[in-house]
Amino acid sequence: MEIGHFRWLSEHKADLNIASSGMIPISRSDIEQLGEPTNIMEVLSNIYNASTKAISLTHGTQEGNFAALSAIKSMIDQVVTVVPEYEPIRILPGFLGLKQVEVNVGNGLSELINYVKPRTALFFSNPNNPLGAYLSRSEIRDIADEARRKSSYLIIDSIFLEFVMDELRNLPLENTVYTFSTSKFYTVDSFKIGWIIGDEELIQKAVNVIDLVSPLVMGLEASYASIILQNRDWFRRRNLGIIMPNREYLMSISESLGGLINVSYFNHMPIAYITTKCDVGSLKLANELLNKGVLTVPGYYFGINNGVRVGLGSVNHDTFTKAINIVANVIKGLCTK
Ligand SMILES: Cc1ncc(COP(=O)(O)O)c(C=O)c1O
Repeated sequence: MEIGHFRWLSEHKADLNIASSGMIPISRSDIEQLGEPTNIMEVLSNIYNASTKAISLTHGTQEGNFAALSAIKSMIDQVVTVVPEYEPIRILPGFLGLKQVEVNVGNGLSELINYVKPRTALFFSNPNNPLGAYLSRSEIRDIADEARRKSSYLIIDSIFLEFVMDELRNLPLENTVYTFSTSKFYTVDSFKIGWIIGDEELIQKAVNVIDLVSPLVMGLEASYASIILQNRDWFRRRNLGIIMPNREYLMSISESLGGLINVSYFNHMPIAYITTKCDVGSLKLANELLNKGVLTVPGYYFGINNGVRVGLGSVNHDTFTKAINIVANVIKGLCTK
């Protein structure tokens, strides 16, 4: 078992790196300027309006996903995942020996409601990485209600949720686990910490898995994260200040290319997915870009074979515009031959 996405990132370096889906990291000393630490469980409990029994810390979102799916392994017969999707999510069910059904969500994640069946888990990122398409709170509620009725489960990788949803209170929790971390909305240069929120019984089962693998000792990370989480508006403003000019530039370039490319983008995500209107494979496009000094992530690693994912939040505007100008020229070259 290997994660091709990670190999791609570790094997390739470029002057213009727009492959990351996080934000320009901030440092611990920046965080210290923002305020004083407090009890992280209380902070999380307030943000989500959930009992502390419905919440646990984790070492990151992927660990949360692993713990949640492992915890319900014996309660399900199959896992439904989607394409395109973040590769570790697509790999995990098979790694745990679970039967997996992959669903194409070209028309949006709301289609998932048709796949809620007894003894089934739906496991997906919301918003979707790489497309950014997402389920609103009421759409999640519809699917969660159906899951409760049918004795099935939802594991929702919500690492990008805060980019599209300001108010996180009262997410439906029954039969559901949401996994989060500091890795995206709150990217820090020197640590990460995660948390899971959901059905109390499922959270306890997931905690048992974490206890088996690596019991939590994270006082330091938790105290920094408690400051971060008390400053969500500050992070939102900072993120938008980086993302929006880059997004506008990408859209203006897309328009100037007169239909040669299609950009999938949802407000206010730190990623966009670019497909070309000509028949060029994602690996070929990404490799051509690499030759010109631009690192992106080919769609291939998300299970689709046209296009590349670009990050809008992890580089400054100057680097982003240089990179996108090259992307535009490379696509023009490949598609107008
Ligand atoms: C959908 C998704 N989940 C999880 C992760 C990684 O999360 P963490 O670093 O918190 O384990 C990423 C990173 O890109 C991601 O895109």
